[in-house]
Amino acid sequence: MPTMEMGTLETELSLFKYDNLEQLPSEYRELSEEERTERIERSLDRLDDDVVVLGHNYQRREIVEHANFVGDSYQLSVEAANADAEYVVFCGVTFMAESADIITDDEQTVILPSMEASCPMAGMAEALQVDSAWAKIESATSDADIIPITYMNSYADLKAFCAEQGGAVCTSSNAHQVFEWALERGDKILFLPDKHLGENTAHRLGLEDSVTEWDPWNPAEQNPEAVAESDIILWNGYCQVHERFTVEHIDRVRENHPGAQVVVHPECRREVVESADVVGSTATVCETVADAAPDETWAIGTEIHLVRHLQRWHPEVTVVPLCGDACMDCNAMRQTDPNYLTWVLEELVEGRERNVIEVQPHEKELATVALDRMLEL
Ligand code: 13P
Ligand code: SF4
Repeated sequence: MPTMEMGTLETELSLFKYDNLEQLPSEYRELSEEERTERIERSLDRLDDDVVVLGHNYQRREIVEHANFVGDSYQLSVEAANADAEYVVFCGVTFMAESADIITDDEQTVILPSMEASCPMAGMAEALQVDSAWAKIESATSDADIIPITYMNSYADLKAFCAEQGGAVCTSSNAHQVFEWALERGDKILFLPDKHLGENTAHRLGLEDSVTEWDPWNPAEQNPEAVAESDIILWNGYCQVHERFTVEHIDRVRENHPGAQVVVHPECRREVVESADVVGSTATVCETVADAAPDETWAIGTEIHLVRHLQRWHPEVTVVPLCGDACMDCNAMRQTDPNYLTWVLEELVEGRERNVIEVQPHEKELATVALDRMLEL
């Protein structure tokens, strides 16, 4: 087992690392949609090939309409890796912009328009907290080789930690492959931060009887025997947008829309995933609806902006939110409003870089290893 050198990593809390990030200037707060659309288009014309705008599937309509590429986290990281533009404006959340910075060349600059776009689930596994839990988990498992795997939805310092410990990153579209890779190299996996994606992946691989949970908020109450006996140790993190879907929602939608099929994201609870017809990343959700026949009805168990996009993009298919009006938007994704996009683009036209995400060099080097291990699979 490699020895831990956490002292070499940045040890500030991840969320507060980027103190260069700025609030939106007041003159940008009240722009009409017409005005900002015109100004965004003008800036994009002026910047031309110097800028690429990437938008996650959960972004608002007014953002995805201006993006050069819209996709899931994995696709966006591949687009960032392939981008030639000097500026990558990443309309997503902090961990995605960090990953883009890690993957792009040193001469490229990654901009996250809104400083408040931070995924709460990524904040549920801070590297400092994982560092202290790691020692306890290692002592409970005596000399077992534990491979830490972190979901893309985590900060760069945690990705660096995983690389140091022989682990890797995964996304919702390749978690099963990364788990298989890890179990060929070690005895156990510590999966962070999303317990539901971890549990769903363990089930997909037939490891459902060998899963336990580690609750970092109650370290004294963890069961060392269960940790010692299990192949998969799940960190107790979750996404509140996806955790709210229940089997009752699926039953109700099937009752109200006879013949409806259900597609959900793997951040949903296991019983929800098991009751759905299709499970997959946001790209899979998009493809499922794109491939549907015109008379089909699909209920979507994921973030509400994506559901609304699918209704607009595929009016021939009946697309309904899985839990009706109770479906949530992602508060972090929502922070990137189009006024921010107008501002950062106009500043670039003037030669000023705002809200740059630059991962610390040492963290970047290690996190690259963890991301490359995933991209090479
Ligand atoms: P995808 O990788 O499926 O796009 O998901 C990212 C995410 O944040 C889901 O909540
Ligand atoms: Fe994070 Fe959930 Fe938002 Fe995805 S939907 S960015 S996991 S809070």
